[in-house]
Amino acid sequence: MSLPERGREHDEIIRQLETLRVDDAKWRDGRTFGLVYDGGPEVHAIAEAAASMYLHENALNTLAMPSLGEIQRQVVGSMAELLHGDEAAGFMTSGGTESILMAVKSARERAREQRGIDRGEIVLADSAHAAFHKGAHYFGLDTIVVPVAADYRCDIAAMAGAITDRTVLVVGSAPQYPQGVIDPIEELAALATAVDANMHVDACMGGFILPFMERLGEEIPLWDFRVPGVTTISLDVHKLGYAPKGASIILHRSKNLRRYQTYTFDDWLGGFYASPSMQGSRSGQPMASAWAVMQRLGLDGYERLTRTTIDTARKIREGVHAIDGLTIVGKPVAQLMAITIADGWHERLDIFAVGDALAERGWYLDRQHRPDSLHATISNGNVPVADQFLADLADSVAATLGQAANDRSTSYATLE
Ligand SMILES: Cc1ncc(COP(=O)(O)O)c(C=O)c1O
Repeated sequence: MSLPERGREHDEIIRQLETLRVDDAKWRDGRTFGLVYDGGPEVHAIAEAAASMYLHENALNTLAMPSLGEIQRQVVGSMAELLHGDEAAGFMTSGGTESILMAVKSARERAREQRGIDRGEIVLADSAHAAFHKGAHYFGLDTIVVPVAADYRCDIAAMAGAITDRTVLVVGSAPQYPQGVIDPIEELAALATAVDANMHVDACMGGFILPFMERLGEEIPLWDFRVPGVTTISLDVHKLGYAPKGASIILHRSKNLRRYQTYTFDDWLGGFYASPSMQGSRSGQPMASAWAVMQRLGLDGYERLTRTTIDTARKIREGVHAIDGLTIVGKPVAQLMAITIADGWHERLDIFAVGDALAERGWYLDRQHRPDSLHATISNGNVPVADQFLADLADSVAATLGQAANDRSTSYATLE
């Protein structure tokens, strides 16, 4: 594939893009359960308006573009307040993975400086997001992986047994991605504190829904900065915050702890280089869109979207339980779930075959393993099609009775 010899016409390029994406998952019709989080027409309108204003701006140097510094301050500050981080400070990043990488790097740096640990260890459950392993790989740390307990939450006794004087980071998730359960954050933070390790709460999925569930009167176990010992929290505006992709937040309990995240270099001919995260040039577009979406929704908008999302997730979970042969893994509290085969049905029913049948009906759900299951993250875009989904799920079960899928692969993320 070479570049065209001559530049092409605008309309022709757009037509080709339209053709290129015909096979992409149909998130606009609510047919994906993850990947894209659809806040509805008003949210699209403000996100797109802000995106077109900031498409070309660069947050590399906020002295040149102070509006992006202010946008970051407001996005970070408003969520720090909601998560009870009175002294908290942080940065916007490009996504959950970058926020997690920065939490890992910060833990390594603090342990090096304050505890003299050169090659530290991260203690985490096998439910914790793969980005922590990526972080360990990038930053030269070891991971000590602990199997989850029977309820799919962190196994506190086993985590305690895995912590040593080389532990620099303990990880908990609120909620974890695979089954959507919330880890016992208070107990984990106490374990981390006992060895003076950092404690990261991965709220990439929960950060924009659990605070609003609490405001709506739901009982949510404590997971944010109200828990002593929690040092960092990641939360994604581009998930349940309903901003377009490229926007997450990493919060530190204090500005003093935040300094372990940053990098500065003052001996370059190009001048002083100060960088908060992995990126150099940082697109202003996702930052401005995230700010604009958060302003458009406000607390009442997020409460409204949380209400409908949670109600729909509960309706889908009840609907799944009502289908003979299916059940939900563990006890998810918010918008996530893993759909699997009920006890006594494994001889007759295969969840991956059910998933294939759903795909033929136009639904996109990721496959997971241990146990084999279909992952669904419910968000606002799925609300109007929940009944249709449950009907197609029941049909897919009936259509695949006695069948098993040969392909047992899972693919959360791919290379090309
Ligand atoms: C709990 C959790 N942590 C981290 C991530 C990674 O986020 P991102 O895909 O934005 O890098 C995800 C993504 O789904 C997640 O669910």
